[in-house]
Amino acid sequence: MRRMIAAILLLCYLSFSPTCRAFNVEDCGSKSGKFTSVTLSCDMSKSVCDLIPNTNATIEINFTIDKDISAVNAVVHGIIMDVPIPFPLGNANACTHSESNISCPLAKGGSYLYRNVLPVHKSYPKLAVTVKWQLKDENNEDIVCVLIPAKIK
Ligand SMILES: *[C@@H]1O[C@H](CO)[C@@H](O)[C@H](O)[C@H]1NC(C)=O
Ligand SMILES: *[C@@H]1O[C@H](CO)[C@@H](O)[C@H](O)[C@H]1NC(C)=O
Ligand SMILES: *[C@@H]1O[C@H](CO)[C@@H](O)[C@H](O)[C@H]1NC(C)=O
Repeated sequence: MRRMIAAILLLCYLSFSPTCRAFNVEDCGSKSGKFTSVTLSCDMSKSVCDLIPNTNATIEINFTIDKDISAVNAVVHGIIMDVPIPFPLGNANACTHSESNISCPLAKGGSYLYRNVLPVHKSYPKLAVTVKWQLKDENNEDIVCVLIPAKIK
């Protein structure tokens, strides 16, 4: 039995079967918050999130918080071969950009749905990248931190 499970896992690993290879969004040190779901505009049943040039990529982070928070700033890095490269956002301040769907201050115990849309430019290099998305509070501490395995197609 154990050998059979191992064989199935190995087959999954070697194949590109979507059910075997769906990617996970990893927590990279969420502190005052906890994400309940992360929804991306890519096909989340694949092994990585495919970012298609000339499209907009949407991210939604549904999270709860365990303290009052007055500021929410998004910090995004693209990690390429272990090197985090800052990805500047024009709308980093979620409190002042209504498209973020966050109204500040945030109340302890509340549930929030953060949203952002990024254009995938044609000029981006076609490579594998881990997207690190942090939402930071007024003390520069992580409310949530998520890692998304992605690939620019
Ligand atoms: C992406 O979003 C921007 C801003 O909302 C919009 O102007 C643009 O047309 C969108 N692009 C695509 C390919 O949907
Ligand atoms: C966010 O997650 C909570 C808990 O899972 C759920 O009750 C709520 O409906 C979600 N909100 C949205 C907008 O998805
Ligand atoms: C955020 O989006 C959810 C679902 O789309 C909505 O129910 C909620 O009212 C929005 N919150 C704000 C502050 O706009």
